[in-house]
Amino acid sequence: MTARDRIIPALTPEELRRFCEFLYARTGMQFGESKRYYIERRLNDRLAATGALSFAGYLNQLRSDPAETAAVINSFTVNETYFYREEHQLRCLSQDILPEIIRGKGPGDRIRIWSQPCSTGEEAYSIALWLLENWRMVDAYNIEIVGSDIDTDALAAAREGLYGERALSRLPPAVIGAYFEPARRGRRRIIEDLRQSVTFTEANLIDRGGMKEQGVFDVIFCRNVLIYFDDDSRARAVEHLHDSLAPGGFICLGHTESMSRISSRFAIRRFDDAIVYQRPAG
Ligand SMILES: C[S@@+](CC[C@H](N)C(=O)[O-])C[C@H]1O[C@@H](n2cnc3c(N)ncnc32)[C@H](O)[C@@H]1O
Repeated sequence: MTARDRIIPALTPEELRRFCEFLYARTGMQFGESKRYYIERRLNDRLAATGALSFAGYLNQLRSDPAETAAVINSFTVNETYFYREEHQLRCLSQDILPEIIRGKGPGDRIRIWSQPCSTGEEAYSIALWLLENWRMVDAYNIEIVGSDIDTDALAAAREGLYGERALSRLPPAVIGAYFEPARRGRRRIIEDLRQSVTFTEANLIDRGGMKEQGVFDVIFCRNVLIYFDDDSRARAVEHLHDSLAPGGFICLGHTESMSRISSRFAIRRFDDAIVYQRPAG
């Protein structure tokens, strides 16, 4: 009999509550009884992978096992992403945001851009590709792009840089031809130069210390994650993002996300292509 064939008693409401609390405290993501099926499926996979015989035993094990904690977090994250997602924000980056940022910089100065969370890397690489293709000042500055996420499996995939058709579907064919090489099973790998040009690091939006370690950025893309948080974790994450921005720096949220109910510490900037938020300069 394999671990998968074992009959595991159903997750009790109390176990489900304990697990959701555990996940919430570590990630900010809020799950509950309404997601029972989703939770049970993923926990069953973790029980099979670890050989645990009951949910109760597994939950106890989690408290003292950092590797398994990372594995269960990885299995609960939603990593949906693709290249040139919400392209209008990339246009805003090259047409409005960066021209403002460089007013306070000199040639050769560093511009730091953060894709947090970056999932499997498409957003961070999109920023690099977009600037290479669309910002004529790209060579005049030292542009540093960092991609971060809580999900260590997603980060490993980002570093590997292998993508399938769906992830690439919004990219112009000329961009695919110039920056990707064919790989096995119909996939494509982003070229070495670009892989080297983006740094990927683990960082948790709700962990103040870990966020601080990443340093200060001129622009942050924090898209399509706050929707998984409740008001408390949203407020914490946004506070940390505020502190990670240089004065005058910009933050782009996903199109269903807004600062309005979360924080009043940012100025709203309405550009032709996007609404973005700015940390006041003073
Ligand atoms: C839907 S993806 C968004 C990726 C990309 N920003 C985009 O918009 O295409 C959400 C990502 O948020 C990450 N995530 C969830 N909770 C997080 C946290 N507390 N800190 C950092 N990343 C987190 C997940 O691992 C997942 O990769």
